Amino acid sequence: MKVRIAAVAMFGVLSSASMAAAQTGDAAKGERVFGQCKTCHTVDKGGKNGVGPNLAGVFGRKAGTADGFKFSEAMTGSGIVWDDKALAEYLKDPKGRIPGNKMIFVGIKRQDQLDDLIAYLQKASR
Ligand code: HEC
Repeated sequence: MKVRIAAVAMFGVLSSASMAAAQTGDAAKGERVFGQCKTCHTVDKGGKNGVGPNLAGVFGRKAGTADGFKFSEAMTGSGIVWDDKALAEYLKDPKGRIPGNKMIFVGIKRQDQLDDLIAYLQKASR
């Protein structure tokens, strides 16, 4: 019994530690991760739409509503409002999260890279 309690307590410590890490992505490293997105996306205010939409102001915006970009029905109909969590889920597995969306990107599987990327997007898309 004692051992079990210790194990549960230990798990609690570990999971809260990793949750803390999830909130502290490194924006500078995230900028490098964004290198993979740049072929299709700009993130600066007033930046052009390319193969993908400009990402300025993406936080708090409804998916598929960036000005002047023709989105897929899968994206406009997803009902998503972009926040940290929604972006992380989408960018980890674009096709799995929104089947039929037209972003050709395999996804970012490493959690640390995702955290860094989200931290960068928060800064750069303002
Ligand atoms: C090969 C081009 C391409 C790459 C690479 C790419 N994207 Fe996209 N992205 C798109 C396209 C096209 C869409 C629109 C999808 C649709 O309408 O179904 C999109 C949509 C998005 C959206 C939704 C925008 C909105 O306003 O709803 C986000 C957020 C996004 N991409 C972020 C990223 C990030 C971050 C990366 C890099 C990790 C990335 N994309 C890599 C082409 C790309």
